[in-house]
Amino acid sequence: MIARPSSLAVRVPGDKSISHRALICAALASGRSRIRNILPSADVRSTAGILRALGAGIPALGDDVRVDGRGLAGLSATNDPLDCGNSGTTARLMSGVLSGCPFPSRLIGDASLSRRPMGRVAGPLTAMGAQFAFDSGEHLPMVVTGGPLRPLRFESPTASAQVKSAILFAGLVGRVPVSVTEPVRSRDHTERMLSALGVEVRSLGLDASLEPASELPPFQLDVPADPSSAAFFAALAAAGGVRSGGPLELTDVALNPTRLGFFRTLRAMGVDVSWDIQREECGEPVGTITVVPRSLQGTEIRGEQVPAMIDELPMLACLGALAQGSTEIRGASELRVKESDRIAAVVQNLRAVGADADELPDGLVVRGGSRSLGGEVRTHGDHRLAMAFGVLGALSGSAITVDDVDCVSVSYPGFWSDLERVIA
Ligand code: S3P
Repeated sequence: MIARPSSLAVRVPGDKSISHRALICAALASGRSRIRNILPSADVRSTAGILRALGAGIPALGDDVRVDGRGLAGLSATNDPLDCGNSGTTARLMSGVLSGCPFPSRLIGDASLSRRPMGRVAGPLTAMGAQFAFDSGEHLPMVVTGGPLRPLRFESPTASAQVKSAILFAGLVGRVPVSVTEPVRSRDHTERMLSALGVEVRSLGLDASLEPASELPPFQLDVPADPSSAAFFAALAAAGGVRSGGPLELTDVALNPTRLGFFRTLRAMGVDVSWDIQREECGEPVGTITVVPRSLQGTEIRGEQVPAMIDELPMLACLGALAQGSTEIRGASELRVKESDRIAAVVQNLRAVGADADELPDGLVVRGGSRSLGGEVRTHGDHRLAMAFGVLGALSGSAITVDDVDCVSVSYPGFWSDLERVIA
């Protein structure tokens, strides 16, 4: 009998998107909420720090956090600048919350965040009655002055959960009905969480709408593991890089269909990937993803597939370098306004390690079949680049160094030690 390689199991840390939303909802709830397994990363700490400065009772983030909410109208003004750090989600979602608060707040961020577009939230929130004042351009630093808001029906030109959530939170805090139509459905965590808390939220196809609620009840939530963090280990397993060369189980992962694009794409590349739902948490399906390595085939990604795997595209491009044939990503110009210009940075780095890749205006193409990759990667301080190339570098035969290993703290502080634990 041939012994089957035994499978390894990994539980990556809590979902970043759900962690931000849980803190915001808990701060706006009337009473004490309990959040377990929140992601204690730099981005989530930025949201916690801002909500604390606005008066919410939030202790240091740990495995079991009790948050004392102040109610929908209970946040209070501060003269201190509100520091979003590197976190676009913090800046956009808090812009929505602050649009419903009748006082000015100054939002600042690090150099990367201060280059990212804020007009996409300022536009619709201004149409609702909030005021935005920028130091220059439509970037941070900016002052958001909230006030009485008007209802809004917004046709969003971009598929962005941050924009959609900013409008939903503005409607919630400002107590006005809002609706957002997107070109492609983006992640729907805000809709699911608010709906689980009893708010009248309708989410169908490309439309999301919210009716005003009188209050948000306190809640308990056990944050499931982040599929975007799990994707790095799924990629490692797909390329045969986990110890024992066998399957990998990623446990307790948020299995929201708006987040599973990477795993569906791995299947299209020939990898044996399956998932099964074991529980539901605040409206989110949660369960195990199993990845069995197979030889990788190149693939094509088109615009309608992009939002469900937007943060995983750097990892996918790196896998493309190992696949047979070419991998082409189109309709992904949003990648140019992430923590770095991820189209330019991924292509530069793929070339730096010896792969064959080209930029496209709205994506990239990688011609696969690379074997031993080696060279120095410049992350531009972008956590997802560090982890994607970290996975490539962990495969036997590659010799890749990453210039800034510490930037992973934005979303996954323990990434390097978890990687060490599972590699061959
Ligand atoms: C996020 C939405 C996505 C994603 C980001 C987190 C969220 O951004 O890239 O990492 O939590 O809403 P966009 O909505 O701007 O695409």
